[in-house]
Amino acid sequence: MQTRSILIASGVFLTAAFCTALLPAHAGQAGEGRGERHGEGRDDGDNRWQKGLAIAPVQLNFQDRNKRLVGLGSYIVNGVAGCNDCHTHPNFAPGGDPYLGQPKMINTANYLAGGRVFGPFISRNITPEAPSGLPAGLTLAQFKEVLRVGTDFDNAHPQFGPLLQVMPWPVYQSLTDEDIEAIYAYLSAIPHAEQGPVGP
Ligand code: HEC
Repeated sequence: MQTRSILIASGVFLTAAFCTALLPAHAGQAGEGRGERHGEGRDDGDNRWQKGLAIAPVQLNFQDRNKRLVGLGSYIVNGVAGCNDCHTHPNFAPGGDPYLGQPKMINTANYLAGGRVFGPFISRNITPEAPSGLPAGLTLAQFKEVLRVGTDFDNAHPQFGPLLQVMPWPVYQSLTDEDIEAIYAYLSAIPHAEQGPVGP
């Protein structure tokens, strides 16, 4: 009986060892920078990060950042969540307004620097702040709190209460942790920009 289970156990072990040996040589190799956690260098068929890098309208600063995570963040910010709609004012560069039938050109000079007016509320500058380099001056933990529960860390309008208004955090709160981290990584990688003239 005991010999039998030893035999089975060693059979299982040998099979496992054999399968490991068969794994393609590149599997598990790290891609660019940090980020084995996010599966860099692994072809899992998810190429949204590459599309994200392709559609980023500004030069990105990768430093020691995870390129795949930054790319996914760009995909979400520029291709899905429409952050630009509210946080870049005006949205498009002169001659680049697709609503007028012109070829789309994002207003990169004020990209994500805020300034769109919604009644008593104004969208904020969410580009990296000097000198910390933190997007909107928020740490990752604070940023997560903004997207999950709408905390206004600037307490900009106590007369309306402590929560961000207009900002669709009740939608973004359903994103996965990784997606929010990706947005944050992307916003950390874009250049700082100054708000232009505010307007509706
Ligand atoms: C419908 C318009 C709208 C969209 C879309 C939008 N925002 Fe906002 N956001 C706002 C407004 C307006 C404020 C300020 C709200 C206030 O003062 O109560 C704000 C505030 C914020 C803040 C707080 C900044 C600070 O200094 O505390 C962050 C961070 C933020 N938005 C990030 C984002 C991101 C990231 C996206 C896309 C995933 C996004 N927003 C999409 C309108 C929007």
